[in-house]
This record gives sequence, structure tokens and C-alpha cells, in this order.
Amino acid sequence: MSVHMPPERNRKYMEIVAHLESCFERHGDTPQGVDWPNAEDALLRHHIMLDLVRPAPSRRVTLLDFGCGLSHFYEYLRAQRVKRIDYVGLDVSKRFVAASRKKFPRNTYYCLDLLRNHGTLPVFDYVVMNGVFTEKVTLSYEEMLRYFTALVPRVFRHARVGLAFNVMSKHVEWERDDLFHLPYDELAAFLIRDVSRHFVIRNDYGLYEYTAYVYRERWPPRPPSPPSRRPRSRTSRSRAPKSSARARRTRRRSGGRRGG
Ligand SMILES: C[S@@+](CC[C@H](N)C(=O)[O-])C[C@H]1O[C@@H](n2cnc3c(N)ncnc32)[C@H](O)[C@@H]1O
Repeated sequence: MSVHMPPERNRKYMEIVAHLESCFERHGDTPQGVDWPNAEDALLRHHIMLDLVRPAPSRRVTLLDFGCGLSHFYEYLRAQRVKRIDYVGLDVSKRFVAASRKKFPRNTYYCLDLLRNHGTLPVFDYVVMNGVFTEKVTLSYEEMLRYFTALVPRVFRHARVGLAFNVMSKHVEWERDDLFHLPYDELAAFLIRDVSRHFVIRNDYGLYEYTAYVYRERWPPRPPSPPSRRPRSRTSRSRAPKSSARARRTRRRSGGRRGG
């Protein structure tokens, strides 16, 4: 019965939050305190989340760390000396927000449940949700899926450019009952239907999870134009290495295609 109830009514997802708070009680301000198994992989996840941000050399961007926990992503940005990101944190847990505010009193933090609260949260260029959906703890797969499919579109409303989140992969030696292993196809169908058709599924970084980057706009905005031929001056021709003449002959023979 609870499977059919909107997740914000029964709030079963708060069992995930309670579990994470108990990790914090046990392990303190460490990656294990937000239930990441080790520091090295936690660092790698921050790196992957930061890759959501597209290159825009001169412009500052705003970023919401949704499910910020102990602000370890902010610490990563500082350690990497990333200057052009204005960071804001959000967590549904009062304990995590209190701990983050204590560490970084100058940062802005929101403590709210977006499934219940509409309107007070501004829009940011980017939103990252690192570890919000990797564990389902006591929720069934269907309950977790309903929670996930309810929350992602809500959060996306607050992302002007893009959103990143991670979930567990189905392509692993074994699955754990307490983790959320989401098939790519199911994710893709949901994103196209309810969020955006411009997304990247990133599975190249060697962990048992994958990350989705979801954008409002296509990328690149238009197809790159073919490289323009440089006008040949006498000098440039006489300086061209011999091998390039051979390469031109080969290209002509193969119909000028690259690869295949
Ligand atoms: C695994 S921890 C990761 C913390 C942090 N992102 C990091 O990687 O260090 C997940 C965090 O998401 C928060 N969280 C889970 N569900 C949430 C929700 N619906 N709204 C806001 N925060 C949520 C939890 O309280 C917890 O702090």
C-alpha cells in the first residue's frame, strides 16, 4: 500500500537520512560519517560531480550541493582552488546542516524537504546530488524508485543549466539489498519523459555506481563547423613535411573519410 502513496506523505526516505545520521554519530566528520566506504573514492566522486560544470572561462556560476552532508564537496572545491563557483548547501537533516554551518558559517545553507516545501529555494546554475540516491536502506526498490522519480524533477526546476546525481550500477558482480541499483534503460526512459532528453550517463570512473549529468540544453549548442582550410602561401607549402603530401594522396584514394 505504501508503494502507491506519494513519497512525501509517508516520508519513508527519512529512514535513509536517519541511517546516515547514525553513521555521522559513529564516525564523525569523515567520509564514513556520510556512509562512503573510503576517502579515496569519496574524493573521486567529488571530482566527477565537478565535471558537471561546463567550461565558461570568464563567468562565475552558482552551484547547489543538494544533500550536502558535512560539506565535503565544498572542502574539495577549496582544496582544488576552484574560484569561479559560488557554493550553497542544502540538506534535509538538521544535524548535517548544523555541522556544516558550524564548519563554514559564511556559507549559505538551506535545511528543507523539497518534496514538501515549494517556493523558498532559488534557482542555481548547477545542482549536484552526490550520494542522495545510492542507498535505499530499508526502502523497497519500488519505494525508492518513486522517491527518486518524484525528487529529481523537483530538483531540476532549481537547475538553470544542469543537474548531476549518482546511483548504483546493475553491471556489478553482485547487488546489495540496501543499495539502489537502477538499470540505464529505466533511467533514460524516465529522464526523457519527465526531466530532459539532454543527458550523459557517465560510467568510466571505475566505481560500482554511475553518474548522470542532465542538462536543459543540448551540447554543443550547434554542431561544430568543419575545420576551415588554411590559405596556402608559398612559404607554408614549401615548409609542409613530405609525409603530408603522402597523407593527402592516401586520403584522396580512401575518399577522404576519417576512420572506418
Ligand atoms: C551519502 S550522504 C552524502 C553527503 C555529501 N553529498 C557527500 O558526498 O559528502 C547523502 C546526504 O543526502 C542527504 N539527503 C538525503 N535525502 C535528502 C533529501 N530528500 N533532501 C535533502 N537532503 C537529503 C542526507 O541527509 C545526507 O546528508
